[in-house]
Amino acid sequence: MDEIDWAARWRRVVEDRAALASGHADPGYWDRRASSFARSTHARSDEFLRVLEPYLASRKTLIDVGAGTGRHTNPLAERLEWVTAIEPSEGMRSHIAPRDNVTVVASTWEDAEVAPADLVICSHVLYGVADPVTFVEKLERMARERVFVMMRETDLPHPAAEIRRRLHGETGPRLPRFSELFMLLLQMGIAADVAFLKYPIMTRYSEIDDALADSRALFGEGWDEAAGQAILEEILRRDGDELVFDGGVALSGVAHWQPRES
Ligand SMILES: C[S@@+](CC[C@H](N)C(=O)[O-])C[C@H]1O[C@@H](n2cnc3c(N)ncnc32)[C@H](O)[C@@H]1O
Repeated sequence: MDEIDWAARWRRVVEDRAALASGHADPGYWDRRASSFARSTHARSDEFLRVLEPYLASRKTLIDVGAGTGRHTNPLAERLEWVTAIEPSEGMRSHIAPRDNVTVVASTWEDAEVAPADLVICSHVLYGVADPVTFVEKLERMARERVFVMMRETDLPHPAAEIRRRLHGETGPRLPRFSELFMLLLQMGIAADVAFLKYPIMTRYSEIDDALADSRALFGEGWDEAAGQAILEEILRRDGDELVFDGGVALSGVAHWQPRES
C-alpha cells in the first residue's frame, strides 16, 4: 500500500469543506459568531487547562494561537507572567478580557510577528487551515518548552449539519480530525504525547435569528431559509433566555510535544 501523504490529504479535506462553506477560515464568520461562541464555551476550559497544568508557572510566557474569545487566555493570564493572544477576528477579540499581562495581536498566525514564548497553545483552530505543515512549523519555532494543539476527533455537532442530514440524508464534507493531525505530525517527524478529552457540546444562541445566521454560514450552498428555520425550531430547546442545541458528547485530542529545535 502506498504511504498516505497526510499534508495533501489534509488540504483536500479543507478544500472540499471550503467549497461548500468558507465558515471556519473566514474571520467574518467568527465576527458574527463571537457572542454565541463565548456563551457556548466559556464554562468549558478546564479539561484543556488540566493538560497544561504540569507546565504552568508564574514566570512563564505563553502564546495562544487563534485565541478566540479568550476562553483559555483569560484563565491562563492569572497563572503566567505573560500571554500573547493571536486572533484575526475583531468580534472574537472584543471578548478577551483586558489585562496588564495580556497582549492581543490582530492577525492570523501565518502573518503574526511575535517573539517566542515558553508555551504555545492552539485550540480548535486548524480546521480551516489548508497548509498545516507551515502553520505547525511556526508553532514549534515560537515555542521554547512545549507546543499544545487541540482538535476534535468527532465531527462538529452543529445545527447546520443536522439540518443538512434531515434535508439531504448526509452531513456534507467534514472537517479535518485529530487523528489526521497526529499522523501528519508523525510524518513531520514529531512523536507527540496525546491526551483525549470528552465533554458535552451545547451551542447557545440568543435568539432564532442568531441560530439562523450561524446555520446559514456553515450550511453553505443550497441553504433553504424556510426549511432551515422549521428544523431549527424543532431541534433547539429554550433554556432561560437562550436557545440551545444539544450536540451530545464530543471527543477531542490534545497533541503536545517539546519543540525539536529547543
Ligand atoms: C473555534 S475558535 C477557537 C478559539 C479558542 N482557541 C478556543 O478554543 O476557545 C477558532 C478561532 O481561530 C481563529 N482562526 C482561524 N484561522 C486562524 C488563523 N489562520 N490564525 C489564527 N487564528 C485563526 C478564528 O478567528 C477563531 O477565533
